[in-house]
Amino acid sequence: MREPATTSDTAEPATACGTAANLLTDNPELYEARFPDPDRLAGRWAEDTLRSHGAGQRVLDLGCGTGRDAAHLHRAGRTVTGADLSEAMLTYARTHHPGPDYLAADLREFALADREFDAVVCLDSALLYCHTNAELDGFLRSVRRCLAAGGLLVAEMRNGAFFLGRTDLLDAPRVDAFTWQGTAYRSTTTLSVDRTAQLLRRTRVWTAHDGSAPVEQRSAWRLLFPQELRHVLAGHGFEVLALYDGPGPRTDPPWHEGAAPGTATDADRLHLVARLLPTD
Ligand SMILES: C[S@@+](CC[C@H](N)C(=O)[O-])C[C@H]1O[C@@H](n2cnc3c(N)ncnc32)[C@H](O)[C@@H]1O
Repeated sequence: MREPATTSDTAEPATACGTAANLLTDNPELYEARFPDPDRLAGRWAEDTLRSHGAGQRVLDLGCGTGRDAAHLHRAGRTVTGADLSEAMLTYARTHHPGPDYLAADLREFALADREFDAVVCLDSALLYCHTNAELDGFLRSVRRCLAAGGLLVAEMRNGAFFLGRTDLLDAPRVDAFTWQGTAYRSTTTLSVDRTAQLLRRTRVWTAHDGSAPVEQRSAWRLLFPQELRHVLAGHGFEVLALYDGPGPRTDPPWHEGAAPGTATDADRLHLVARLLPTD
């Protein structure tokens, strides 16, 4: 057995999915193969949420990844900008999911010159790449700077509170196998809770049945708790309109058109809608 090559997210700034190098986000086609969303559930949920809260047309998708959600919002008639830190993702998005304007930005602190948006969306835990309180403040400061008065922040992410008293995602490594372009891949993912840093740490070892060496990758998400999120949002001038654990695009059962948002924040995903309050 060959020793895995190691990449780590400890070197800042983070690039793809919070790691210094990342097999999935350095290879966006592989990312879409590994996390397929053929029915565009995430994009449909985002569009439905924006529409039901009366959002205007101009949308920024932060941590847009391959651009599939940004392109869905574009097709729904919105004027969309997608932003990501990964150049590989941006290049792929421009080619495979055209329509939105794609640009490089670090969601932990960014300024988009004279661009103004009616809504910012941040899907699949991208917000949780803000590991520290300073990064979270930088994110909300930047979002606030680019939102029009009354603009919305819509986010979908893991729920830190889920891990209170539950170990089901931590007890045993998760093994996934899939084939892409004729090569069989296997990933073994181990999650652990870093209570001091308040992070969910992930180690993933990739093996490919093509003789290449295994690759070990490390990443982490902030363990953000619902009441903590409410407090931090209020401090940055946002009013929380909705905060619930499901249904959403990555819940089981998944969201469908017409499904009403829940009221609990107990399960493993959080869905947030917040409005920027007018300043005096
Ligand atoms: C889990 S993927 C989600 C992609 C997309 N939102 C989706 O739902 O398919 C997270 C994305 O966040 C990006 N990302 C990670 N850290 C970032 C940062 N500091 N600033 C901007 N994007 C970042 C990664 O490159 C990746 O494309």
